[in-house]
Amino acid sequence: MSKFNNKTVVITGGNSGMGLATAKSFLAEGAHVIITGRSQDNLDKATATLASDKLTTVVSDLSGLAGIETLVEAVKKTGRKVDTLFLNAGIAQFLPIEHTTEEAFDSMFNTNVKGLYFTLQKMLPYLSDGASVILNSSVVATGAMANASAYAATKAAVSSIGRIAATELAAKNIRVNIVSPGPIDTPIFDKGGYSDAEKQGMRDMLTAAVPLGRLGTSDEVAKAVVYLSSPEAAFITGAELLVDGGIGLRR
Ligand SMILES: NC(=O)c1ccc[n+]([C@@H]2O[C@H](COP(=O)([O-])OP(=O)(O)OC[C@H]3O[C@@H](n4cnc5c(N)ncnc54)[C@H](OP(=O)(O)O)[C@@H]3O)[C@@H](O)[C@H]2O)c1
Repeated sequence: MSKFNNKTVVITGGNSGMGLATAKSFLAEGAHVIITGRSQDNLDKATATLASDKLTTVVSDLSGLAGIETLVEAVKKTGRKVDTLFLNAGIAQFLPIEHTTEEAFDSMFNTNVKGLYFTLQKMLPYLSDGASVILNSSVVATGAMANASAYAATKAAVSSIGRIAATELAAKNIRVNIVSPGPIDTPIFDKGGYSDAEKQGMRDMLTAAVPLGRLGTSDEVAKAVVYLSSPEAAFITGAELLVDGGIGLRR
């Protein structure tokens, strides 16, 4: 029998990159998976890719409380408790401090921090006994990467929320862990309005910085999330698992 047969998994930002790969992994393990995203179009593409009758999609912008309520209502409607909550949705803009606009700052904090925090809060009543929560942070949270000041600050907040949630929720038999990916080859790099040359420059710079000499894949992060959710990780809570090809060693 598959490890997650009949378990229910919610993945925020599950139509692309690491969220999509994680949805695929959990579906392969027999789970019911609910994925979110802001656009029906992107969710339809993910539905076609994942091709599973155990998949549910929810259009919701999690950067505000209204979108979070939409997700909660959709979860309530399934009548199922949630066994794994992967708080993954996030956006990134890489700008030097002098060029970071209020809009860029607010959109990153609203999605990566406020959205994640209140999704966790509002989903708590729907988590099963023994549930697992995983937060997607980043190695930049503890580094000093130039042009990442606002983004890295959001991820430092995510890691902090994760550690404190692990402390608070242990009494409810809920484990909370953090995955901190290094540079992972996902569509996130195509979303910042960068030119092809800038994107290639970024990839080259990141590849050179990774001791294993390459970018990571979404599947490699998905495997870590599945592991942290599994019974094999039953005594692991409050951990931060770096999936980073060793880039964290060079901080
Ligand atoms: N790629 C990397 O190198 C890297 C490294 C470390 C950490 N991370 C983190 O990993 C997570 C996943 O990133 P990724 O690289 O897989 O990027 P991605 O392919 O761009 O996926 C991001 C996902 O988040 C969703 N999303 C964005 N804003 C949202 C909102 N307000 N409400 C609901 N969903 C929203 C997107 O869907 P829609 O756009 O359709 O809404 C998409 O499904 C992010 O938190 C990111 O910060 C990435």
